[in-house]
Amino acid sequence: MGGDLIITGGVPLNGTVRIPAAKNSVLPLLAASLLCSGTVRLLAVPQLADVDTSLVLLRGAGCAARWQGSDITVQSMPSVCRLEPEAAAQMRASILFCAPLLARLGRVETVLPGGCRIGARPIDLHLSGLARMGAHCREEGTRLILTAPAGLHGADITLGFPSVGATETLLLAAVCAQGETVLRGAAREPEIVDLQNFLNAMGGKVAGAGTDVIEIEGVKELRGVSYRPMKDRIEAGTFLFAAAACGGEVEVTGVAPENIRLLLHKLRENGCKIHAKNDKINIESRGKLKCNRRIETMPFPGFPTDLQAQATALNASCTGCALIVENLFETRFKYVPELQKMGADIEVKGRTAFVRGVGKLHGASVTAGDLRGGA
Ligand code: EPU
Repeated sequence: MGGDLIITGGVPLNGTVRIPAAKNSVLPLLAASLLCSGTVRLLAVPQLADVDTSLVLLRGAGCAARWQGSDITVQSMPSVCRLEPEAAAQMRASILFCAPLLARLGRVETVLPGGCRIGARPIDLHLSGLARMGAHCREEGTRLILTAPAGLHGADITLGFPSVGATETLLLAAVCAQGETVLRGAAREPEIVDLQNFLNAMGGKVAGAGTDVIEIEGVKELRGVSYRPMKDRIEAGTFLFAAAACGGEVEVTGVAPENIRLLLHKLRENGCKIHAKNDKINIESRGKLKCNRRIETMPFPGFPTDLQAQATALNASCTGCALIVENLFETRFKYVPELQKMGADIEVKGRTAFVRGVGKLHGASVTAGDLRGGA
């Protein structure tokens, strides 16, 4: 059946994996391309459903967006201030396409975003920040209408929580706004740094990404650019967990070790041997591994929520006990009943999973409810 994967387990993993560009960087970069007058070329983009959904959103806004081999070109000339509703509802990141359209056209209409079911995922921080910059926000049922009749202006904004999406939305709103914006309490994820580098390559004036204060001086216009997005640290982490769980020796290339430093520390705690240099990470996993005592998800540079399910799966097949705490999303343990079908001994209470390692899992028929849980 389409969408089914058949996996025969019990064999070690050996070899080299070259990591592709990061989904969570490519999506905001595609949204950012709406801001430029000219052509954006994103190099070596992975063919993912969310990327194709983003192209639907760009085309719906009046841009020419297409694949050229593994690159994407966007001729940015937005003329329609409405996001294609079916595509917008499909993907949480559709909210990122609002600020650029609002900045360019003074109005945008969308439906409230969908995406993986891992928690409530409100957008209040996006909207209150945009309001500080002169936007009017109105919700009508599932529709969201943003207007900025007098254009967007710079503001001094403090985020109550370092939301990745809200930081990206406000960066996108500020880069062509009138005057200076200071964004405090910003998310520090590497993908925010990549967005800053991309905006600056187009002629933006953004500084401070990677720290919790980002300063943006509004510019009149952004020009087209050819850009290679950063590699996917979460995918790299997923392969490292797979190698750890199955045993073997795997080299993961393309991702800077400093972007997954805490993960490497946790894998060493399990008993894996890790050698990391430049953009090459080598993992060797032999014999029985032991559980991590505690893993707690946090905004960057903490342990990423997008690797929480993979960490739980690994711990389930180690020996000992682990405590996994999920601080970012309320319902990100929905994959646990599936792991239990494979013999995992896990008890979930609220935001905490107690894992008793059973040494080895067995095959079963399971369902992937969200991207990372499926991985
Ligand atoms: N939050 C609010 N209000 C807001 C925005 C967020 O309360 O206005 C809360 C969320 O409900 C959540 C927390 O803040 O509890 C973190 O959300 P954040 O905004 O940081 O996440 P996001 O931008 O929606 C991105 C990634 C996610 C990743 C998170 C956290 C993209 C497209 N998505 O989501 O990736 O889990 O950051 O790192 O960049 C995935 O790739 O599987 C995935 C879910």
